Amino acid sequence: MTFETSRQAYDAFMGRYADRLAPRLIAFAGVQWGDRVLDVGCGPGSLTEALGELVGAQNVAAVDPSEPFAAAAADRVPGADVRVGAAEALPWPSDTFDVALSQLVVNFMSDADAGVAEMRRVVHPGGMVASCTWDYSGGMTMLRTFWDAALSFDSGTPDEGRTMRYNDPEVLRELWLRSGLEAVETDALVVEASYRDFDDYWEPFTAGVGPAGAYTLSLDPDRRAALREECRRRLGDPDGAFTLSAKAWAVKGRA
Ligand SMILES: C[S@@+](CC[C@H](N)C(=O)[O-])C[C@H]1O[C@@H](n2cnc3c(N)ncnc32)[C@H](O)[C@@H]1O
Repeated sequence: MTFETSRQAYDAFMGRYADRLAPRLIAFAGVQWGDRVLDVGCGPGSLTEALGELVGAQNVAAVDPSEPFAAAAADRVPGADVRVGAAEALPWPSDTFDVALSQLVVNFMSDADAGVAEMRRVVHPGGMVASCTWDYSGGMTMLRTFWDAALSFDSGTPDEGRTMRYNDPEVLRELWLRSGLEAVETDALVVEASYRDFDDYWEPFTAGVGPAGAYTLSLDPDRRAALREECRRRLGDPDGAFTLSAKAWAVKGRA
């Protein structure tokens, strides 16, 4: 499982984006002080922490199937109710929360319809259910550069732009409507992350986090070195620090 990893490995790869995306998703969902909130697929806790700062840790619950990630989120937000589990069978009763959020998760659920239906079940009637996923086919520059480089060697490469089903606002809207959510809205959330140098970009792929990390580890050393150089070339052969932008598609609806 590519998410059975440490917070450090995740942060170097994706956490640097997730930390910046979290306040954007919270604002999009309209979370307010006093709300009781759930973070589904919390990972090592970027969104969990941001929610705790807004509503207080005692009003935050979070769940993730990865034990090391759930443990990291619990360490990061003392007092939050963090559990090991999956979106498709949330371990809370119906009508427990004001808001259920998931950040960068619906594509990893084994059954996204069931997962979103569970998010809807655990919020009060009128409560908010909101998520976001990367624009894998375009605006997520870190991953897009990697997969375009990989495709230049192998047209059969498992490009997340193709393998991730929930990849644009319309499919997210349809998922929300299928789950019976109402007043559904979508938006684009754009964030940036900074890199010290090219190695700061490349090395996190070699820790095996997520589909791109798993693909990197599957390559023999020569192919991996060639992919590294192709990524460097596509990023303009950076000499020193640089910044990449990342676009996510967000969706929200009321139970
Ligand atoms: C890209 S990470 C996002 C983590 C975190 N939300 C963030 O923004 O950094 C995807 C997360 O989904 C979790 N996940 C995978 N399958 C899941 C499922 N069926 N239900 C809930 N979470 C799941 C993974 O363990 C991982 O933590």
